[in-house]
Amino acid sequence: MAEIRGLFAENSQAKTPLAYVDTYGCQQNEADSETIRGMLDEMGYEFTADEFAADLIVINTCAIRENAENRVLGNVGALSHTKKAKPSQIIAFCGCLAAVPETVEKIRRSYQQVDLVFAPNLLWMFPELLCRVLTEKGRVFLTDGGDGAVAEGLPVKRDGTVKAWFPIMYGCDNFCSYCIVPHVRGRERSRDSAIIVDEARRLVADGYKDITLLGQNVNSYGVGLDEDINFAGLLRRACEIDGQFLVRFMTSHPKDASVELFRVMAESERAARQIHLPFQSGSDRILSVMNRGYTHEDYMAKLTQAREFMPDIAITSDVIVGFPGETEADFEDTLRLIEKARFDGLFTFIYSRRPGTPAADMEDTVTSEEKHRRFDRLIELQNSISDEQHGKHIGKTMTVLVDGESGDARYPLRARTNGGRLVHLNGGLELVGSFVEAKITHCNSWSLFAEAV
Ligand code: SAH
Ligand code: SF4
Ligand code: F3S
Repeated sequence: MAEIRGLFAENSQAKTPLAYVDTYGCQQNEADSETIRGMLDEMGYEFTADEFAADLIVINTCAIRENAENRVLGNVGALSHTKKAKPSQIIAFCGCLAAVPETVEKIRRSYQQVDLVFAPNLLWMFPELLCRVLTEKGRVFLTDGGDGAVAEGLPVKRDGTVKAWFPIMYGCDNFCSYCIVPHVRGRERSRDSAIIVDEARRLVADGYKDITLLGQNVNSYGVGLDEDINFAGLLRRACEIDGQFLVRFMTSHPKDASVELFRVMAESERAARQIHLPFQSGSDRILSVMNRGYTHEDYMAKLTQAREFMPDIAITSDVIVGFPGETEADFEDTLRLIEKARFDGLFTFIYSRRPGTPAADMEDTVTSEEKHRRFDRLIELQNSISDEQHGKHIGKTMTVLVDGESGDARYPLRARTNGGRLVHLNGGLELVGSFVEAKITHCNSWSLFAEAV
């Protein structure tokens, strides 16, 4: 980083270099982009949202579904125009797609405008690789390796001042049969708990009020560490930090969500009453082929347990329709689970074939029309449940955290309830960053509307 800063300093005629960081995918990628910006900041870059003005464009990509991949590649293709207009522009391609061999090959052959490709586990090497591109003027590809390390002490430049994404572990060992993540993010490894608690304390001291601990399966935090700690223990320690703030976490794998975790949540006011617990399918047969490690009944029992400890907990989930071989009866089991579970929110995905995963070789007999029909039925069912769940809040006064502006003149503030529900709030901009009492007036399927009291 110092070397690159030096390169720019040597050339006193040069303007401050500008970088544009474009992020796709999940919160883990958002967090990685904050590290990329932190490193760029130390190298002397400033930031722009204008692709033509940028000296450096970093595309942080997602590989989870085919449409995510197509969108990224379409946008990278369009960068041939910015590069033509500004030949000195450097384009870097990173994130999960940079660890998919077929995609890397495509970039190498057909996307000549891309100068640098590096896999997500090699994020810490970004300054060194960029330095090579700047000084050696060739293309640099580093897409293999870096499985086991956790790099600490990297600079982070956060997007917000109220909410913070906070990775506590990397990778995934679960190998759900449809999922690319373990193949691109490598083996699961946890960060040292003392480092995590220190950083959380600093975030609270800096005024952050809403901290989300991130991992593909936070419930297996601590496995492989020398210290004797699990996720419930880590959460307890984070909640012991002094100050007015909330701790959330995602994602929880149902097979590992424990009674101990629910107890720790219930015992601390700082643990948000929220859990995202993806169920993926309501059919035991499909769950088994997915390699999820629980049944329909096991899943429902976890929900019941969580609600026994915290009757007001908000529960959200993910579901996949059209997994290879999913029959109408399997799908009915999924509908039945949704009926019973009464989720506060549900993210619905159509199965997408990911080459290299076990499911990619399973026979897919469900037609695309049928998948879309099932998808629409799920959405319709969940929308009616979400309306009902949101409707329960109308007329109530609740504490919400104002985390930003909404852009809507009638409800200029964006806020979250303790359970993580989105609230459009009517109140003054000076409230951003504070917990306020809000009276809920009406709702739609995705959010609540409220007046500050
Ligand atoms: N680690 C998290 C999920 C990360 S991916 C967990 O296990 O809960 C987020 C969601 O994308 C998953 O929960 C799943 O519902 C969906 N997903 C993953 N792979 C997919 C695929 N190949 N096709 C469709 N949806 C997929
Ligand atoms: Fe993918 Fe399963 Fe790991 Fe989640 S737990 S990232 S769905 S393999
Ligand atoms: Fe996408 Fe990678 Fe996240 S595949 S969902 S960005 S872990």
